[in-house]
Amino acid sequence: MHPCRVCTMPTTIFADYGRMPLANGFLLPEQVADERFYRLQMSFCPSCGMIQVVDLPDPAEMFHDHYAYFAQTSQGMITHFRGFAADVIRRLGLGPHSFVVEPGSNDGIMLRNFAAAGIRHLGVDPAANVAAAASQIGVRTRCAFFGEDTARAIRAEEGPADAIVAANVIAHIPDINSVGRGIRALLKDDGVFVFEAPYAGDVIQNVAYDQFYDEHIFLFSCHSVQAAFARHGLELFDAEHQPTHGGSMRYWLAPAGARPATEAVGHWLGQEEAIGLGRAATYQHFFARCQENRSALRAILEAAKAEGKRVVGYGATAKSTTVANFCAITPDLVEFICDVTPTKQDKLTPGMHIPVRPYSAFSDHYPDYAVLFAWSHAEEIFAKEEAFRSQGGRWITFVPRVEVV
Ligand code: TYD
Ligand code: ZN
Repeated sequence: MHPCRVCTMPTTIFADYGRMPLANGFLLPEQVADERFYRLQMSFCPSCGMIQVVDLPDPAEMFHDHYAYFAQTSQGMITHFRGFAADVIRRLGLGPHSFVVEPGSNDGIMLRNFAAAGIRHLGVDPAANVAAAASQIGVRTRCAFFGEDTARAIRAEEGPADAIVAANVIAHIPDINSVGRGIRALLKDDGVFVFEAPYAGDVIQNVAYDQFYDEHIFLFSCHSVQAAFARHGLELFDAEHQPTHGGSMRYWLAPAGARPATEAVGHWLGQEEAIGLGRAATYQHFFARCQENRSALRAILEAAKAEGKRVVGYGATAKSTTVANFCAITPDLVEFICDVTPTKQDKLTPGMHIPVRPYSAFSDHYPDYAVLFAWSHAEEIFAKEEAFRSQGGRWITFVPRVEVV
């Protein structure tokens, strides 16, 4: 029996992706012998609707002082967070006397915008290296895991928050009930908690199974967010779909009874019912499509290899760890993956040990094919890589379907 992390009721396992390393566990050749694996399985809770990872590696192995992910490697995300911050400031009427807290503030990509507007703020992030990068650009950051204890400590030291903002982090914290209690304790009675996360509707419809990995413990929908936070006196009052990370939702929550719900909440709940997010059969069908997707992707890579073509990967994303390991994409199929993040370069990808090379390895000598592992940035990448295509290069994509473009 696998109890739901939210409501403790029994969940149903619907997908097994097999042996997985840590998604951001890029490693040096001498670390290969010590690499850690777990079994990636996903389950669905029929009681509260939450989609979740069944068994997890130890969080201390995931977020530490050499965490590989820096958000500000993407221009699109920098622009996105500028807009997100501006929207929160305008909608809540925040000013110099307000206090904004961001769990999972990473390198300060979001809070820098509140800092620039002269708003009192505090970022919280357990990864010392990214927190240090944030401090360097003037974003006040506390190096800690976010949960009830941290939230209560912040409230005691700094007072209650007018807004708690978060992006791509709430799903990373296993004890979501501690997060819920912490948010409620830290928030003013008229405060707002707004967060973004990849959206279950997009993942299920586009077979974007690479959103499943150790750090993405939960995959949220409006239904499951409503259920998870209602337990802690927080009500979902608005939901706005976002194009980021291949389809995300921005959830707006407030203490129960404080704000009327917009029509969007009812709209999205209706949509979720229409696409079957509440039914176990939907998830079984989804996993069958993941397996078809794997066969199709492997067929393309095997064919390219047989023809002696050069194939490289573009973007050593965390997501690519799930795809590469589930599809057994070894270095004889993909020569290397290029990535602009210095901390990933000259390391090996988790599990499959494909070398990660700087961007120039791609641009100095174009391959025949590039697998678009950073598919959620497709628009930005296609626009800047026109020369690759015009010289005869082709992209291999796998979301929303496997194809060569
Ligand atoms: P991201 O899309 O945030 O994915 P994940 O959460 O799965 O890690 O990461 C993008 C990765 O792709 C990051 O390592 C930077 C890299 N990247 C490039 O190398 N070049 C690019 O043009 C873009 C947009 C990203
Ligand atoms: Zn549940």
